[in-house]
Amino acid sequence: MELTIMKFSINLLITINGCILIGFNDATLDLHLKTIQHLSPSVEGAIFVVQGAFYAMFNPYWASLVDQVASKHSLCIAGCVFSMLNYIIAGPLPFIPINPVVLITGSSSGIGAATAVQFSRAGANVVVTGRRADRVSEVAKECLKVSPKQSKALEVVADVTKPEDLRRLVDTTVKHFGKLDVLVNNAGGSITAKVDDKDFYENFSKVIQLNLNSVVYLTHICVEHLEKTKGNIINISSVAGLRSFAGWSPYCMAKSALDMFTKCMAAELGPKRIRVNVINPGPVRTEFLLAMGIPTSESDKFFEGFGKMMPLGRAGFAKDIADSILYLASDHAAFITGTNLVSDGGQIAGNVLNAEALKDLM
Ligand SMILES: NC(=O)c1ccc[n+]([C@@H]2O[C@H](COP(=O)([O-])OP(=O)(O)OC[C@H]3O[C@@H](n4cnc5c(N)ncnc54)[C@H](OP(=O)(O)O)[C@@H]3O)[C@@H](O)[C@H]2O)c1
Repeated sequence: MELTIMKFSINLLITINGCILIGFNDATLDLHLKTIQHLSPSVEGAIFVVQGAFYAMFNPYWASLVDQVASKHSLCIAGCVFSMLNYIIAGPLPFIPINPVVLITGSSSGIGAATAVQFSRAGANVVVTGRRADRVSEVAKECLKVSPKQSKALEVVADVTKPEDLRRLVDTTVKHFGKLDVLVNNAGGSITAKVDDKDFYENFSKVIQLNLNSVVYLTHICVEHLEKTKGNIINISSVAGLRSFAGWSPYCMAKSALDMFTKCMAAELGPKRIRVNVINPGPVRTEFLLAMGIPTSESDKFFEGFGKMMPLGRAGFAKDIADSILYLASDHAAFITGTNLVSDGGQIAGNVLNAEALKDLM
Protein backbone atom coordinates (compact mmCIF):
# COMPACT_ATOMS: atom_id res chain seq x y z
CA MET A 1 0.00 0.00 0.00
CA GLU A 2 2.77 2.39 1.06
CA LEU A 3 4.72 1.50 -2.06
CA THR A 4 1.70 2.24 -4.24
CA ILE A 5 1.19 5.61 -2.59
CA MET A 6 4.89 6.37 -2.99
CA LYS A 7 4.85 5.38 -6.66
CA PHE A 8 1.72 7.45 -7.19
CA SER A 9 3.29 10.48 -5.48
CA ILE A 10 6.46 10.18 -7.54
CA ASN A 11 4.45 9.93 -10.74
CA LEU A 12 2.34 12.90 -9.75
CA LEU A 13 5.45 14.91 -9.00
CA ILE A 14 7.03 13.96 -12.32
CA THR A 15 3.82 14.83 -14.11
CA ILE A 16 3.39 18.22 -12.48
CA ASN A 17 7.06 18.99 -12.89
CA GLY A 18 7.03 17.90 -16.48
CA CYS A 19 3.93 19.92 -17.18
CA ILE A 20 5.41 23.07 -15.72
CA LEU A 21 8.81 22.63 -17.28
CA ILE A 22 7.60 21.55 -20.67
CA GLY A 23 4.85 24.13 -20.60
CA PHE A 24 7.50 26.81 -20.60
CA ASN A 25 10.44 25.19 -22.32
CA ASP A 26 10.08 22.33 -24.77
CA ALA A 27 13.82 21.68 -24.67
CA THR A 28 13.10 19.69 -21.53
CA LEU A 29 10.77 17.36 -23.45
CA ASP A 30 13.51 14.83 -24.27
CA LEU A 31 14.75 14.71 -20.73
CA HIS A 32 11.27 14.27 -19.38
CA LEU A 33 10.47 11.49 -21.85
CA LYS A 34 13.60 9.64 -20.77
CA THR A 35 12.62 10.04 -17.12
CA ILE A 36 9.17 8.53 -17.56
CA GLN A 37 10.22 5.72 -19.90
CA HIS A 38 10.82 3.27 -17.04
CA LEU A 39 7.23 3.62 -15.81
CA SER A 40 4.45 1.22 -16.73
CA PRO A 41 2.68 1.86 -20.07
CA SER A 42 -0.52 2.95 -18.37
CA VAL A 43 1.31 5.46 -16.17
CA GLU A 44 3.15 6.82 -19.21
CA GLY A 45 -0.18 7.11 -20.97
CA ALA A 46 -1.75 8.88 -18.02
CA ILE A 47 1.12 11.34 -17.89
CA PHE A 48 0.63 12.08 -21.55
CA VAL A 49 -3.06 12.74 -21.00
CA VAL A 50 -2.26 15.49 -18.53
CA GLN A 51 0.68 16.80 -20.48
CA GLY A 52 -1.12 16.81 -23.80
CA ALA A 53 -3.79 18.95 -22.22
CA PHE A 54 -1.24 21.25 -20.69
CA TYR A 55 0.82 21.75 -23.84
CA ALA A 56 -2.22 22.36 -25.93
CA MET A 57 -3.25 25.25 -23.73
CA PHE A 58 0.03 26.92 -24.50
CA ASN A 59 0.91 26.11 -28.04
CA PRO A 60 -0.69 24.15 -30.89
CA TYR A 61 2.72 23.19 -32.30
CA TRP A 62 3.68 21.49 -29.06
CA ALA A 63 0.26 19.94 -28.89
CA SER A 64 0.74 18.26 -32.25
CA LEU A 65 4.22 17.15 -31.19
CA VAL A 66 2.83 15.56 -28.06
CA ASP A 67 0.10 13.88 -30.06
CA GLN A 68 2.79 12.34 -32.27
CA VAL A 69 4.79 11.15 -29.28
CA ALA A 70 1.71 10.01 -27.42
CA SER A 71 0.63 7.86 -30.34
CA LYS A 72 3.47 5.51 -29.44
CA HIS A 73 2.03 5.01 -25.99
CA SER A 74 -1.00 3.52 -24.39
CA LEU A 75 -3.95 5.80 -23.72
CA CYS A 76 -2.85 7.85 -26.69
CA ILE A 77 -6.39 8.26 -27.97
CA ALA A 78 -7.59 9.59 -24.64
CA GLY A 79 -4.55 11.87 -24.55
CA CYS A 80 -5.21 13.22 -28.02
CA VAL A 81 -8.90 13.78 -27.34
CA PHE A 82 -8.12 15.51 -24.07
CA SER A 83 -5.50 17.76 -25.67
CA MET A 84 -7.81 18.60 -28.56
CA LEU A 85 -10.63 19.52 -26.17
CA ASN A 86 -8.29 21.77 -24.27
CA TYR A 87 -7.05 23.21 -27.49
CA ILE A 88 -10.57 24.18 -28.48
CA ILE A 89 -11.51 25.75 -25.15
CA ALA A 90 -8.16 27.39 -24.34
CA GLY A 91 -8.26 31.15 -24.37
CA PRO A 92 -5.51 33.20 -25.97
CA LEU A 93 -2.37 33.60 -23.92
CA PRO A 94 -0.24 36.70 -24.24
CA PHE A 95 2.94 35.23 -25.66
CA ILE A 96 1.77 32.56 -28.06
CA PRO A 97 -0.81 33.01 -30.81
CA ILE A 98 -3.67 30.58 -30.40
CA ASN A 99 -5.78 29.82 -33.48
CA PRO A 100 -3.61 31.93 -35.78
CA VAL A 101 -5.10 33.14 -39.05
CA VAL A 102 -2.66 32.57 -41.88
CA LEU A 103 -3.00 33.96 -45.39
CA ILE A 104 -0.80 32.21 -47.95
CA THR A 105 -0.74 33.57 -51.49
CA GLY A 106 -0.15 31.04 -54.24
CA SER A 107 -1.51 28.24 -52.08
CA SER A 108 -3.25 26.42 -54.93
CA SER A 109 -0.07 24.42 -55.60
CA GLY A 110 3.54 23.70 -54.67
CA ILE A 111 5.13 25.41 -51.69
CA GLY A 112 2.01 27.45 -50.88
CA ALA A 113 -0.25 24.38 -50.86
CA ALA A 114 2.15 22.44 -48.61
CA THR A 115 2.34 25.46 -46.31
CA ALA A 116 -1.45 25.71 -46.04
CA VAL A 117 -1.62 22.00 -45.15
CA GLN A 118 1.18 22.20 -42.57
CA PHE A 119 -0.37 25.25 -40.89
CA SER A 120 -3.74 23.48 -40.81
CA ARG A 121 -2.13 20.42 -39.26
CA ALA A 122 -0.72 22.70 -36.56
CA GLY A 123 -4.17 24.07 -35.78
CA ALA A 124 -4.18 27.34 -37.74
CA ASN A 125 -7.06 28.83 -39.71
CA VAL A 126 -5.80 29.22 -43.25
CA VAL A 127 -6.76 31.20 -46.32
CA VAL A 128 -6.12 29.28 -49.54
CA THR A 129 -5.86 31.42 -52.65
CA GLY A 130 -4.77 31.37 -56.28
CA ARG A 131 -6.31 31.95 -59.69
CA ARG A 132 -7.43 28.33 -60.27
CA ALA A 133 -10.67 27.79 -58.34
CA ASP A 134 -10.57 23.98 -58.66
CA ARG A 135 -7.06 23.79 -57.23
CA VAL A 136 -7.93 26.20 -54.43
CA SER A 137 -10.81 23.88 -53.44
CA GLU A 138 -8.64 20.76 -53.61
CA VAL A 139 -6.07 22.25 -51.25
CA ALA A 140 -8.80 23.50 -48.91
CA LYS A 141 -10.12 19.93 -48.68
CA GLU A 142 -6.63 18.66 -47.79
CA CYS A 143 -6.42 21.30 -45.07
CA LEU A 144 -9.75 20.23 -43.58
CA LYS A 145 -8.61 16.60 -43.48
CA VAL A 146 -5.56 17.35 -41.34
CA SER A 147 -6.95 20.14 -39.16
CA PRO A 148 -7.14 18.92 -35.54
CA LYS A 149 -10.20 21.08 -34.93
CA GLN A 150 -11.79 20.59 -38.36
CA SER A 151 -11.15 24.22 -39.29
CA LYS A 152 -12.45 24.90 -42.79
CA ALA A 153 -10.03 26.89 -44.92
CA LEU A 154 -11.31 30.09 -46.47
CA GLU A 155 -11.14 29.82 -50.27
CA VAL A 156 -10.51 33.01 -52.25
CA VAL A 157 -9.92 32.98 -55.99
CA ALA A 158 -7.74 35.99 -56.77
CA ASP A 159 -5.02 37.25 -59.07
CA VAL A 160 -2.22 38.86 -57.06
CA THR A 161 -1.26 41.13 -59.95
CA LYS A 162 -4.61 42.93 -59.56
CA PRO A 163 -4.75 45.38 -56.62
CA GLU A 164 -8.57 45.10 -56.46
CA ASP A 165 -8.23 41.31 -56.01
CA LEU A 166 -5.68 41.82 -53.22
CA ARG A 167 -8.01 44.25 -51.42
CA ARG A 168 -10.85 41.73 -51.71
CA LEU A 169 -8.54 38.97 -50.45
CA VAL A 170 -7.64 40.87 -47.29
CA ASP A 171 -11.16 42.21 -46.66
CA THR A 172 -12.67 38.73 -47.02
CA THR A 173 -10.05 37.23 -44.71
CA VAL A 174 -10.58 39.75 -41.93
CA LYS A 175 -14.35 39.64 -42.31
CA HIS A 176 -14.38 35.84 -42.17
CA PHE A 177 -11.82 35.14 -39.41
CA GLY A 178 -11.82 38.52 -37.63
CA LYS A 179 -8.05 39.01 -37.77
CA LEU A 180 -4.80 38.24 -39.55
CA ASP A 181 -1.73 36.82 -37.77
CA VAL A 182 0.58 35.61 -40.54
CA LEU A 183 0.98 36.73 -44.14
CA VAL A 184 2.98 34.40 -46.41
CA ASN A 185 3.82 36.15 -49.67
CA ASN A 186 4.46 33.08 -51.76
CA ALA A 187 2.76 33.49 -55.16
CA GLY A 188 5.38 33.84 -57.86
CA GLY A 189 6.79 32.56 -61.09
CA SER A 190 9.29 33.30 -63.81
CA ILE A 191 9.57 33.88 -67.53
CA THR A 192 12.98 33.29 -69.12
CA ALA A 193 13.99 36.55 -70.78
CA LYS A 194 17.26 37.58 -72.36
CA VAL A 195 17.85 41.30 -72.49
CA ASP A 196 17.97 41.36 -76.32
CA ASP A 197 14.74 39.36 -76.72
CA LYS A 198 12.05 41.32 -78.59
CA ASP A 199 9.57 40.96 -75.74
CA PHE A 200 12.12 41.37 -72.94
CA TYR A 201 10.70 44.53 -71.44
CA GLU A 202 7.13 43.24 -71.50
CA ASN A 203 8.19 40.02 -69.74
CA PHE A 204 10.36 41.93 -67.30
CA SER A 205 7.33 44.03 -66.29
CA LYS A 206 5.15 40.93 -65.83
CA VAL A 207 7.71 39.19 -63.63
CA ILE A 208 8.22 42.28 -61.48
CA GLN A 209 4.46 42.76 -61.15
CA LEU A 210 3.94 39.16 -59.99
CA ASN A 211 6.95 38.64 -57.72
CA LEU A 212 7.52 42.10 -56.31
CA ASN A 213 4.76 44.69 -56.81
CA SER A 214 2.05 42.32 -55.59
CA VAL A 215 3.99 41.67 -52.37
CA VAL A 216 4.60 45.36 -51.78
CA TYR A 217 0.93 46.19 -52.23
CA LEU A 218 -0.34 43.27 -50.14
CA THR A 219 2.06 44.18 -47.33
CA HIS A 220 0.89 47.80 -47.54
CA ILE A 221 -2.75 46.83 -46.98
CA CYS A 222 -2.06 44.14 -44.35
CA VAL A 223 0.03 46.17 -41.90
CA GLU A 224 -2.97 47.62 -40.04
CA HIS A 225 -4.26 44.08 -39.36
CA LEU A 226 -0.87 42.58 -38.47
CA GLU A 227 -0.19 45.44 -36.07
CA LYS A 228 -3.28 44.45 -34.06
CA THR A 229 -2.12 40.82 -33.70
CA LYS A 230 1.64 41.57 -33.48
CA GLY A 231 1.83 39.15 -36.36
CA ASN A 232 4.46 38.41 -38.92
CA ILE A 233 5.24 38.27 -42.62
CA ILE A 234 7.23 35.64 -44.47
CA ASN A 235 8.25 36.38 -48.04
CA ILE A 236 9.23 33.61 -50.43
CA SER A 237 12.21 34.67 -52.47
CA SER A 238 14.76 32.37 -54.13
CA VAL A 239 18.46 31.67 -54.36
CA ALA A 240 17.97 33.63 -57.59
CA GLY A 241 17.69 36.71 -55.35
CA LEU A 242 21.18 36.03 -54.03
CA ARG A 243 23.01 34.88 -57.18
CA SER A 244 22.76 35.78 -60.88
CA PHE A 245 21.42 33.41 -63.54
CA ALA A 246 21.85 34.17 -67.25
CA GLY A 247 18.46 34.54 -68.94
CA TRP A 248 16.67 35.07 -65.62
CA SER A 249 17.44 38.71 -64.88
CA PRO A 250 13.80 39.82 -64.28
CA TYR A 251 13.23 37.03 -61.77
CA CYS A 252 16.64 37.54 -60.09
CA MET A 253 15.99 41.29 -59.78
CA ALA A 254 12.46 40.79 -58.44
CA LYS A 255 13.63 38.32 -55.77
CA SER A 256 16.66 40.43 -54.89
CA ALA A 257 14.41 43.46 -54.40
CA LEU A 258 12.07 41.29 -52.33
CA ASP A 259 14.99 40.42 -50.03
CA MET A 260 15.73 44.12 -49.55
CA PHE A 261 12.05 44.96 -49.09
CA THR A 262 12.01 42.36 -46.30
CA LYS A 263 14.90 43.99 -44.48
CA CYS A 264 13.43 47.49 -44.84
CA MET A 265 10.07 46.23 -43.54
CA ALA A 266 11.73 44.46 -40.61
CA ALA A 267 13.33 47.76 -39.63
CA GLU A 268 10.17 49.77 -40.22
CA LEU A 269 7.61 47.39 -38.70
CA GLY A 270 9.67 46.11 -35.76
CA PRO A 271 8.40 48.95 -33.53
CA LYS A 272 4.87 47.75 -34.33
CA ARG A 273 6.03 44.28 -33.18
CA ILE A 274 5.57 42.82 -36.66
CA ARG A 275 8.38 40.48 -37.68
CA VAL A 276 9.31 40.21 -41.36
CA ASN A 277 11.55 37.47 -42.78
CA VAL A 278 12.35 35.94 -46.13
CA ILE A 279 13.10 32.41 -47.28
CA ASN A 280 15.36 31.76 -50.27
CA PRO A 281 14.58 28.26 -51.53
CA GLY A 282 16.83 26.33 -53.90
CA PRO A 283 15.25 23.97 -56.46
CA VAL A 284 11.96 22.56 -55.14
CA ARG A 285 9.81 19.96 -56.93
CA THR A 286 6.64 21.93 -57.64
CA GLU A 287 4.73 23.14 -60.69
CA PHE A 288 7.11 26.08 -61.02
CA LEU A 289 8.59 24.97 -64.38
CA LEU A 290 5.22 23.69 -65.64
CA ALA A 291 3.82 27.18 -65.07
CA MET A 292 6.60 28.43 -67.37
CA GLY A 293 5.34 26.12 -70.13
CA ILE A 294 7.96 23.41 -69.61
CA PRO A 295 6.53 19.87 -70.02
CA THR A 296 6.29 17.57 -66.98
CA SER A 297 8.93 15.16 -68.31
CA GLU A 298 11.44 18.01 -68.74
CA SER A 299 10.61 19.45 -65.34
CA ASP A 300 11.12 16.04 -63.68
CA LYS A 301 14.42 15.62 -65.52
CA PHE A 302 15.55 19.04 -64.36
CA PHE A 303 14.83 18.45 -60.68
CA GLU A 304 16.30 14.96 -60.84
CA GLY A 305 19.51 16.15 -62.53
CA PHE A 306 19.81 19.30 -60.43
CA GLY A 307 19.20 17.27 -57.29
CA LYS A 308 22.14 14.99 -58.05
CA MET A 309 24.44 18.03 -58.26
CA MET A 310 23.36 19.32 -54.86
CA PRO A 311 25.43 18.73 -51.71
CA LEU A 312 22.41 17.05 -50.11
CA GLY A 313 21.90 14.93 -53.23
CA ARG A 314 18.33 15.91 -53.96
CA ALA A 315 16.04 18.77 -54.93
CA GLY A 316 13.72 20.05 -52.24
CA PHE A 317 10.14 19.06 -51.55
CA ALA A 318 7.47 21.67 -50.96
CA LYS A 319 7.18 20.47 -47.36
CA ASP A 320 10.86 21.32 -46.74
CA ILE A 321 10.06 24.97 -47.36
CA ALA A 322 6.68 24.82 -45.60
CA ASP A 323 8.41 23.63 -42.42
CA SER A 324 10.84 26.57 -42.57
CA ILE A 325 7.87 28.92 -43.00
CA LEU A 326 6.14 27.45 -39.94
CA TYR A 327 9.30 27.86 -37.93
CA LEU A 328 9.67 31.54 -38.84
CA ALA A 329 5.99 32.17 -38.12
CA SER A 330 6.18 30.55 -34.70
CA ASP A 331 7.35 31.98 -31.42
CA HIS A 332 10.41 29.76 -31.70
CA ALA A 333 11.60 32.56 -34.01
CA ALA A 334 10.38 35.37 -31.75
CA PHE A 335 13.72 37.20 -31.89
CA ILE A 336 14.26 36.76 -35.64
CA THR A 337 13.36 39.53 -38.03
CA GLY A 338 14.89 40.85 -41.28
CA THR A 339 16.62 37.52 -41.88
CA ASN A 340 17.17 35.50 -45.06
CA LEU A 341 16.65 31.83 -44.32
CA VAL A 342 18.38 30.03 -47.19
CA SER A 343 16.70 26.63 -47.60
CA ASP A 344 18.56 25.28 -50.63
CA GLY A 345 20.00 21.85 -49.86
CA GLY A 346 23.45 23.41 -50.02
CA GLN A 347 23.07 24.86 -53.53
CA ILE A 348 24.90 28.07 -52.71
CA ALA A 349 27.48 26.42 -50.47
CA GLY A 350 28.22 23.91 -53.23
CA ASN A 351 28.30 26.56 -56.00
CA VAL A 352 25.65 24.68 -57.98
CA LEU A 353 24.52 27.89 -59.51
CA ASN A 354 24.92 28.68 -63.16
CA ALA A 355 21.84 28.51 -65.40
CA GLU A 356 24.07 27.95 -68.42
CA ALA A 357 25.51 24.84 -66.80
CA LEU A 358 22.00 23.64 -66.03
CA LYS A 359 20.46 24.28 -69.44
CA ASP A 360 21.25 20.78 -70.72
CA LEU A 361 18.91 19.45 -68.05
CA MET A 362 15.90 21.18 -69.64
N1 LIG B 1 10.07 25.57 -57.06
C1 LIG B 1 11.25 26.13 -56.98
O1 LIG B 1 12.26 25.53 -57.38
C2 LIG B 1 11.40 27.49 -56.33
C3 LIG B 1 12.69 27.90 -56.00
C4 LIG B 1 12.85 29.13 -55.40
C5 LIG B 1 11.76 29.92 -55.16
N2 LIG B 1 10.51 29.53 -55.49
C6 LIG B 1 9.39 30.42 -55.21
O2 LIG B 1 8.41 29.72 -54.47
C7 LIG B 1 7.15 30.34 -54.68
C8 LIG B 1 6.10 29.28 -54.94
O3 LIG B 1 6.39 28.63 -56.17
P1 LIG B 1 6.24 27.07 -56.38
O4 LIG B 1 7.57 26.54 -56.60
O5 LIG B 1 5.40 26.48 -55.32
O6 LIG B 1 5.52 27.05 -57.79
P2 LIG B 1 4.03 26.63 -58.24
O7 LIG B 1 3.75 25.23 -57.85
O8 LIG B 1 3.95 26.99 -59.68
O9 LIG B 1 3.11 27.59 -57.38
C9 LIG B 1 2.96 28.94 -57.69
C10 LIG B 1 1.72 29.46 -57.01
O10 LIG B 1 1.58 30.86 -57.30
C11 LIG B 1 0.28 31.10 -57.78
N3 LIG B 1 0.26 32.21 -58.72
C12 LIG B 1 1.02 32.38 -59.83
N4 LIG B 1 0.66 33.52 -60.46
C13 LIG B 1 -0.37 34.05 -59.74
C14 LIG B 1 -1.17 35.21 -59.89
N5 LIG B 1 -1.00 36.06 -60.89
N6 LIG B 1 -2.13 35.44 -58.97
C15 LIG B 1 -2.33 34.59 -57.93
N7 LIG B 1 -1.59 33.49 -57.73
C16 LIG B 1 -0.62 33.23 -58.64
C17 LIG B 1 -0.15 29.80 -58.44
O11 LIG B 1 -1.57 29.68 -58.40
P3 LIG B 1 -2.55 29.83 -59.68
O12 LIG B 1 -1.82 29.27 -60.86
O13 LIG B 1 -3.75 29.03 -59.28
O14 LIG B 1 -2.83 31.28 -59.78
C18 LIG B 1 0.46 28.78 -57.50
O15 LIG B 1 -0.39 28.53 -56.41
C19 LIG B 1 7.32 31.34 -55.81
O16 LIG B 1 7.42 32.64 -55.28
C20 LIG B 1 8.65 30.93 -56.42
O17 LIG B 1 9.30 32.02 -57.03
C21 LIG B 1 10.31 28.30 -56.09
